Amino acid sequence: MSAKTDGIERARIAILISGRGSNMVALAEAARDGRIANAEIAIAISDQPNAAGLDKAKELGIETLVVERRGRPRAEHDREVVAALQARQIDLVCLAGYMRVLSGEFIEAYRGRILNIHPSLLPLFPGLDAQQQALKHRAKSSGCTVHYVDETLDGGLIIAQRVVPVHDDDTVETLSARILEEEHKLYPEALAMVLGNMGRLSAAVE
Ligand code: GRF
Repeated sequence: MSAKTDGIERARIAILISGRGSNMVALAEAARDGRIANAEIAIAISDQPNAAGLDKAKELGIETLVVERRGRPRAEHDREVVAALQARQIDLVCLAGYMRVLSGEFIEAYRGRILNIHPSLLPLFPGLDAQQQALKHRAKSSGCTVHYVDETLDGGLIIAQRVVPVHDDDTVETLSARILEEEHKLYPEALAMVLGNMGRLSAAVE
């Protein structure tokens, strides 16, 4: 935790992105508005140099860093990311559309302190194309899940979920848009809840 000039301890959050970054923006706005109390988005890291989310992070005044994955072994790439996180004393990592599976070393370094958002009601439809999977299975509802990241694919402990209806005439685009709207509300709420719990835990051991 870092103390700013106002003396308030704030959890330092890093957001990892690969693309659009709309969940990153939702988290950053919630932190700025005080909906996530005592948190600061310290950095946005992308494995893709052209991720649109990088410009959005800059507009929000957030430090950005590109750690290119291209052609590099996962462990080596992750070591560089973890070094960047540790150099900035990051307390918690939020994956937001980060399209790379984390190495065991990364997970170990931040165990219990890495969150992800996934566009389905896990454990249903893990992995890629979750909305497409929901349509294929003719699900009547789907949704989004915020969960801890462990070594399994989208299988870590579930923190929070939100259900959305699936309509008969839905396409991947219409269903994705309906789910995304809920993602933008759910992720800040889940992060606030996790940080509230973390605060209570660290107060208990002091
Ligand atoms: C979201 O649907 C998220 O659930 C999934 O990837 C998408 C990222 O969107 N993991 P964005 O980059 O946050 O706009």
